[in-house]
Amino acid sequence: MKTLNAAIIGCGAIHTCHVEALRQTPGVVLRAIVDIDPDKGRALSGEYDCAFYQDYREMLCDVAIDVVHICTPHYLHKPMVLAALAAGKQVFCEKPVGMNMADIVEMRAAEKQADGRLGVCYQNRLNPTSLALRQLLSENALGRLLSINAFLTWSRTPPYYANSPWRGRYASEGGSLLINQAIHTLDLVQWFGGGVTRLKGVVDCARLEDTIDTEDTAMATLEFSGGARGLFFASNNHTRDTPLQLDIHCEQGELQLRDNTLWRVSDDKRVMIASDETPYGHSKRYWGNGHINAIRQFYDAVRSDRHSGVTGLNDAAKSLHMVEAIYRSSQLRQWVTLPE
Ligand SMILES: NC(=O)c1ccc[n+]([C@@H]2O[C@H](COP(=O)([O-])OP(=O)(O)OC[C@H]3O[C@@H](n4cnc5c(N)ncnc54)[C@H](O)[C@@H]3O)[C@@H](O)[C@H]2O)c1
Repeated sequence: MKTLNAAIIGCGAIHTCHVEALRQTPGVVLRAIVDIDPDKGRALSGEYDCAFYQDYREMLCDVAIDVVHICTPHYLHKPMVLAALAAGKQVFCEKPVGMNMADIVEMRAAEKQADGRLGVCYQNRLNPTSLALRQLLSENALGRLLSINAFLTWSRTPPYYANSPWRGRYASEGGSLLINQAIHTLDLVQWFGGGVTRLKGVVDCARLEDTIDTEDTAMATLEFSGGARGLFFASNNHTRDTPLQLDIHCEQGELQLRDNTLWRVSDDKRVMIASDETPYGHSKRYWGNGHINAIRQFYDAVRSDRHSGVTGLNDAAKSLHMVEAIYRSSQLRQWVTLPE
């Protein structure tokens, strides 16, 4: 098996999940890291025994690098994805792949011209509970889907935004709660429900109004392509990060996701279907444990030249489209229709 050489751009909070996943992926070596902070970069390159670059464009000139992981602030995703694809690299980008749908259009054109592929980190799709839920719904195991309700309450405090000043600003984060924390939930909901056709939503900034110029709370009423309905609520104003709660109502029963466990619920009985409780190194429990699975899947796809389940640009665009639609709906106070 040919060894694949990886580089990580951006050594902040999430990069440790990528380092750990690379360590646990056979046939992969972390060859370089990139960060604009030279002290941090040099210290980490010693720890990881790899090269350090302060400028990602210099790293892209290293022909030995096969795969580039992008773990930087949102406003840098598009230029870095475009440059890495143009340099002939395989690219694995943290969510959101871009800040808006205009970014997606540019990336789509670039990907068409490129030899490499673009994968986006929606690791929660690979949680055992997500896979089981999707399978049950796609088989109509509980009859026709009637509704999906999603409830996500996390805690983001002023120091979280002060530590990384790109957060909490439209120009650099592209939003906050929706595009950063809740985008995984929007992605799962649309993936389980077979696509959202239209929505009506509201965004607000309450507790963080003196800290950020974006939103800390959002809700939306959703309609799915198969006729099912959905309710979505998310906020960064809780006092702790609680695991995503989902209620899935079908004609012949109900499924519930609670504490990272999927249950089938009927009358007074709860039967466990799947659990995500696996002790994986650096992944915080509420982020999900899927980075290792998502990154291994991406490297498998690079080796086999198949996309096989990797979340690509078109899939990643769906949740980004929902984010944009909720902002627009909130502004217009109207339903917004999404493209098929
Ligand atoms: N998949 C998940 O569950 C998950 C969880 C957390 C964060 N994320 C995503 O990961 C990305 C990074 O988030 P974070 O919380 O780690 O951010 P962070 O602010 O903690 O880290 C960003 C890092 O990028 C570096 N950086 C900034 N500009 C750079 C440049 N031009 N070149 C190289 N490095 C540069 C910074 O110095 C910093 O070390 C975001 O897209 C975020 O949404 C994903």
